[in-house]
Amino acid sequence: MVLVAFYSRKGHVKAAALAYAQKHNYELLEIKDTVNRNGFFGFINAGRQSKNKMSTPIEPITVDLSAYEKVVLCTPIWAGKCACPIRTFLKDYGSQIKDIDYVLMSGGRSEHQLAITDMDQTYGKTHSKAITLVRGQSID
Ligand SMILES: Cc1cc2nc3c(=O)[nH]c(=O)nc-3n(C[C@H](O)[C@H](O)[C@H](O)COP(=O)(O)O)c2cc1C
Repeated sequence: MVLVAFYSRKGHVKAAALAYAQKHNYELLEIKDTVNRNGFFGFINAGRQSKNKMSTPIEPITVDLSAYEKVVLCTPIWAGKCACPIRTFLKDYGSQIKDIDYVLMSGGRSEHQLAITDMDQTYGKTHSKAITLVRGQSID
């Protein structure tokens, strides 16, 4: 079984992850932030924290990730990197994941390769496949 795991601040990554999971009948997991990211300061802090490669706290993950043959991890791009809650997920739970694909969604101003390399470093292993999207696009 495949698990589609996502973090989304404004809903664009969520929409893509949801449609993809529904289309393939995959399970879905939302990675939940515990940091208030509303408004201008929420945005500025998120960008600063991501630039500084900070792993910010998330709600505990209670599903057994090792039970899945693959995890498709979907993230927005923040300051050229994965979103902070995704970094925390990879750092804290990556060791449980057998095989991983990445889906990275940007606003169209970023080159994704640096983010992908950085995610692999945090995961501690190499991803199988990476899909890059611009906001509003869906996963094929
Ligand atoms: C803090 C922050 C930093 C961002 N940095 C970038 C960036 O470096 N390059 C880019 O193309 N888009 C950037 N974006 C835009 C998001 O990647 C894009 O809007 C994404 O679709 C948001 O997904 P969401 O709606 O699921 O939160 C940034 C957005 C935020 C909130």
